[in-house]
Formats: sequence, structure tokens, C-alpha cells
Amino acid sequence: MTIDTVRRVAVLGAGSMGHGIAEVAAIGGYEVTMRDLEDDLVQDGYENIEWSVEKLAEKGQIDESSEAVLERIDTTTDLADAVSDADLVIEAVPEQMEIKRDTFSTVDEHAPDHAILASNTSSLSISEIAMATDRPEQVVGLHFFNPPVKMDLVEVIRGEATSEEYAERAYEWAESIDKTPIHVRKDVHGFVVNTVLVPFMEEAAWMLSNDETDIRTADATMVYERGYPMGPFELNDFGGIDIGYHFRDASDQPVPPAVAEKVENEHLGKKTGKGFYDYDDGDGVDYG
Ligand code: 3HC
Repeated sequence: MTIDTVRRVAVLGAGSMGHGIAEVAAIGGYEVTMRDLEDDLVQDGYENIEWSVEKLAEKGQIDESSEAVLERIDTTTDLADAVSDADLVIEAVPEQMEIKRDTFSTVDEHAPDHAILASNTSSLSISEIAMATDRPEQVVGLHFFNPPVKMDLVEVIRGEATSEEYAERAYEWAESIDKTPIHVRKDVHGFVVNTVLVPFMEEAAWMLSNDETDIRTADATMVYERGYPMGPFELNDFGGIDIGYHFRDASDQPVPPAVAEKVENEHLGKKTGKGFYDYDDGDGVDYG
């Protein structure tokens, strides 16, 4: 059920997180504007949403037709236009502080006074992003997980200046789209999930770098013995190897050589067709 204070949601970025967030907001009943820099990026994101929503509709996993959901999604490349009548803005642009701050500064100029301004950053400081605006009390982290349509959890992160009221409004909005939000009250690098999850992937990558395991053994151990949905290498490929790399690099800590090598060669996982596994012949990972 939608909440009264939010009618239109602007999602900035149509990449894997951006389009997924736009999708769950539209499924939740909200009017959505999805924005990216170029027409083809917006188009790719929209097609991904179409694929996903049609699949959910076929399986009866949404309450209405795919057309009804898709009708609520507009697209644009104009940032000012995207946010000018948004009650909630969710930024999902690349994980670089300068890009985030530039985006928030423009959003601040054009978004309505009352809008909740949220960032989907995986690990960057909400407090620092918020300082690019004149209303840091309205800036909050809304951290979704990949793929947003399948993952329930949303971290709601308070920056140093975030007001109780805006953190609560963001939390209520996440609940209204049937997610399970949790309040993260300390704006620490990586928040809760990535602080725990990135080392899981990295420990396996250190073992690989030190020739102490191979990729399939490590993944099979976690999947078959521990019951995880994906092993550390498959998960790294799935989310993008560059994400974990930037997470560690941004905190000035050493990166496992096996990860650095993938990033140098732009083998970033599923999205580039190659990572720890090769996806050129299809989607699946076989641990066999
Ligand atoms: N939309 C619609 N359908 C989808 C879909 C999507 N986005 N993704 C998968 N599906 C469909 C598949 O096509 C498949 O359909 P089919 O049965 O008709 O072929 C069906 O759902 C089942 O898919 P799978 O068999 O691949 O797998 P599961 O449903 O069992 O689970 C998963 C998929 C939820 C992705 C599960 O593998 C999982 O939980 N993996 C771990 C994901 C995770 O941990 N994400 C968090 C990463 S960390 C992060 O995001 C933080 C950020 O800051 C980087």
C-alpha cells in the first residue's frame, strides 16, 4: 500500500540497481521517473524492467498486469526534469563520491522542498553526500540489494545530519513497497551488510590469490555445505567485481591480487560476460 507523503519517485541511474529500484517502486504502486545520462542507457534499463515484470506477471508474482506496472514508469535523460515533481529521489549513479555529490547538488536545486533525498550507495558516507545539499537533514541512505525485485532487505542509513523524521519517512516508504527495512544508525563505511559481506568474498579471493583454493571449491563449499544461495565468487560476479574493489580501495586497504587483476582486465563479472566465471555461453554457474 502506498503512503500519503510520496506519490512520485525519481530514480537516478538505470543500471542494475537503478532499474531494479525503479521496478520495485512501480510494482509498489508509485509513479516513477527513471533517469540516466544517455537514451540507450535508459532504454536498456527499461527493457530489463520489461523482462522482469513480464516474468513476474506470468508467474502470478504481482497483483496486476505487466502493462499496468510499466505504465507507471516514465524515462528521461534530463535530471532537473526527473526530480522537479518527485516526493522521493533515489540516486543510483556510479559509486564515486564526486559524481554522487554533483548529482545531489543538482537535485537540491530542482527537487521540491519537501522531498526525501536518498542515496543507494553501497558504502560511501551519507553525511558527506548530504553536505552537497542545503538540506542535509532530508538526505538518507536507502540501500537496496541486487536484484531489488528478489531481495527483501533495505538498509535505511542516517547521516550525521539526517533528521529522525526523514529517516522514518524513508523507512515507511520501504515498508510500503513490501520490503523489510532496517535502521542503520551509524554512517560507517559499508553500513552493516557490506561490512560483513565484502570480507566474505575477499577472504575467498585471498585464498585464491595464495593458491589455497580454486573458485569452484570455494563456491561449492558455501552453497552445498553452508546453504548460501551463491558462493563468494559467484556473488562477486553477480554484483560486479568492481563494487567490492572500490569498497576496499576507498578505505585504503589492500585488495586481493585475484580481484585487482580482474578489475585491471575489466572482467567485472556477469555484466561484462567474464569474471571469475565465463558467462559467454549462458547465464549459469555450474559448480560440478
Ligand atoms: N526479475 C524477475 N525474475 C527473475 C529475476 C528478476 N530480476 N532474477 C531471476 N529471476 C527469475 C529467474 O529467471 C528464474 O526464472 P525461471 O525459473 O523461469 O527460469 C527464477 O527467477 C528463479 O531464479 P534462480 O533459479 O536463478 O534463483 P532463485 O530465485 O533461487 O534466486 C537470487 C535468485 C535471489 C538472485 C538468489 O540466487 C540469491 O539470493 N542470490 C544472492 C543475492 C545476493 O546476496 N544479493 C546481494 C548482493 S550484495 C548487494 O547487492 C549489495 C550492493 O551494495 C552491492
